[in-house]
Amino acid sequence: MKTATVLLTAVSALVPASAASELMSTLKRLKLDAWAAQSEAGIFDIDRYAAQAATPCVNGKAGEYACNNVDLVSFLRHQDMGSSTRRGNDIWGWTSSTGREFAAVGQTDGTAFVEVKSDGSLVYLGRLPTQTTSSSWRDMKVIGDYVYIGSEASRHGLQIFDMKKLLNLSPSSPKTFSTTSDLTAHYSGFGNSHNIVAHPETNMIYAVGSGASGCRGGLFMLNVSNPARPTSPGCLSAGGYVHDAQCVIYRGPDTRYTGREICFNFNEDTLDIVDVTSKSRPTTLSSTAYNGASYTHQGWLADEEMRFLLLDDELDEQTRTGPAANQRTTTYIVDVSNLTKPVFTGTYQSPAKAIDHNQYVKDGLSYQANYGSGLRIIDVRSLSTDPTGKGIKEVGFFDCYPEDDSVGGIAEFTGTWSVYPYFKSGYVLLNSIERGVFSLRYTGS
Ligand SMILES: *[C@@H]1O[C@H](CO)[C@@H](O)[C@H](O)[C@H]1NC(C)=O
Ligand SMILES: *[C@@H]1O[C@H](CO)[C@@H](O)[C@H](O)[C@H]1NC(C)=O
Repeated sequence: MKTATVLLTAVSALVPASAASELMSTLKRLKLDAWAAQSEAGIFDIDRYAAQAATPCVNGKAGEYACNNVDLVSFLRHQDMGSSTRRGNDIWGWTSSTGREFAAVGQTDGTAFVEVKSDGSLVYLGRLPTQTTSSSWRDMKVIGDYVYIGSEASRHGLQIFDMKKLLNLSPSSPKTFSTTSDLTAHYSGFGNSHNIVAHPETNMIYAVGSGASGCRGGLFMLNVSNPARPTSPGCLSAGGYVHDAQCVIYRGPDTRYTGREICFNFNEDTLDIVDVTSKSRPTTLSSTAYNGASYTHQGWLADEEMRFLLLDDELDEQTRTGPAANQRTTTYIVDVSNLTKPVFTGTYQSPAKAIDHNQYVKDGLSYQANYGSGLRIIDVRSLSTDPTGKGIKEVGFFDCYPEDDSVGGIAEFTGTWSVYPYFKSGYVLLNSIERGVFSLRYTGS
């Protein structure tokens, strides 16, 4: 739903009319301005950053990086991963059938592939260039052995790439894959997209924020049970533009929906919960606004029981709105135990000033990629007894953007874009916009 007052001037020419979202256009303009200023200042210049050796976190520092309970294990610059624009964005991981771990590292001009060796070190293996032009936005998710890559680049569509192609590559001769002959498939049924949502349990990809799809930027559904031949069984456009989503087979407390395919959609100014079991007739169960809503961006279920959800709003810190008025990164807590009546029960505030971007939960810890304050790991296990969020504690961090440390952090679109915390080895990969990809190890209990 789009009901909130738009406080900022929209620049609607930036997105195709079919995906027109004034809020999105505003947000994109803010970011493009910030990144243009950075580029002007030489932030993305070649050799701007030095290579880094493994550095443990000692007395709050790992080299130039402020930290707590997180060691720097390995690092590769964007220029070391074949990027000529040297700017990063999203990241996701893949584990082979024999347990080798790899990541797809998003960059504005393509996707770099790295292996995470058993000691956590990163090795660059090759890259898949963008399908059309470069764009600040590239997003990837993995189902099975395949990575699905979308971008805001015009006419980009979806690249479907078999990660098994990485198994026999040698780091001494990294390979640049072909965007035609090396793809398992290229899906062109939508043009640009903002995010790619993957639901491995149903073999479904939901491209969101897509233009030229006739889906109003909602859930553009793709059945990828055969990755070589994706088919689109439907679209959810009722709530308009969806920025990101998490989809699950529901096994939470609301027994009316047990076994249904439920998506939690982050819809710019509301949390929308939808039942997408029927692809041709998806239904919206609830659409909920909250105090502080500025740009409802992303979130993740906080617990295996599916009672609580963590939600990040991307603009509240910069616009000093609601609980985020002090610009400390604000995470909203939602009791989703009733899918038709979710309740916002409180917030958690980081000690650091920064904007939040993406967070993923693993074993009671939320790994947050919070732009200028880097990786923030928070323990959310207290939610089952205290839904206000007062019991949430930061248990570790790695600040990959030292430039703003002297002023105590800033609410800007600089620093990290996303994090992948799901490797069995425990190595956490953090993709920074400016520098490159970090392999990190959480050393807390
Ligand atoms: C995807 O397509 C396959 C093959 O047609 C079908 O068996 C499966 O039920 C579809 N999945 C969904 C979630 O619709
Ligand atoms: C969930 O909320 C609905 C209102 O949408 C209400 O009718 C229903 O009784 C609630 N269920 C429970 C278990 O509280």
